[in-house]
Amino acid sequence: MICPLHGPILKENLEYYINKYDIWSSYKPEEDGVFIAFASIHGNTANAARKMKEILERKGAKKVVISDLSREDMHECVEDAFRYDKIILASSSYNMGVFTPMEQFLYHLLNKNYQNRKIGIIENGTWAPSAGKTMKEIISKMKNITICEKIVTIKSVLKEENINEMKVLSDELLK
Ligand SMILES: Cc1cc2nc3c(=O)[nH]c(=O)nc-3n(C[C@H](O)[C@H](O)[C@H](O)COP(=O)(O)O)c2cc1C
Repeated sequence: MICPLHGPILKENLEYYINKYDIWSSYKPEEDGVFIAFASIHGNTANAARKMKEILERKGAKKVVISDLSREDMHECVEDAFRYDKIILASSSYNMGVFTPMEQFLYHLLNKNYQNRKIGIIENGTWAPSAGKTMKEIISKMKNITICEKIVTIKSVLKEENINEMKVLSDELLK
């Protein structure tokens, strides 16, 4: 049956729906896993994000999903950010800020009252990396977010030292 004001009226399987309502209304994660969201201008940050996926999987992360914020449906990305309990944000620096698809993504999360998650940050910049600071400024407006102490800073192209830093970040994120 459909109520003209509120949509379908559920009559079966109520426990399932009430459980979902409880999770969503209290901003709890649905699954133990990591969502990696990246925004890359030329592709180097994308490579770093894919490397981070490999590292997390090798370190035993239960589930790791990855999305390109410039190409994939923004609302699916918001959904994945809510689904998992941990998130990696990887972005290029852009005009002394963060690349716009990442900025838009974070404002979507902020507008939806995103909270109760653990976040790791990877920034990329060629002359004055600014993505990390800008992402942190937006995240700081969210409630109950733990930001990993280790921030990985890449200068243009992923290097061996960055891979070591990403291993440190993955340990901290999965702790
Ligand atoms: C329009 C534009 C603006 C940029 N602004 C900055 C900046 O403010 N600071 C910086 O360090 N790098 C800046 N960059 C360099 C990018 O961050 C660079 O593309 C990145 O470090 C390499 O990663 P990517 O291959 O994922 O884009 C800019 C690049 C472009 C094209």
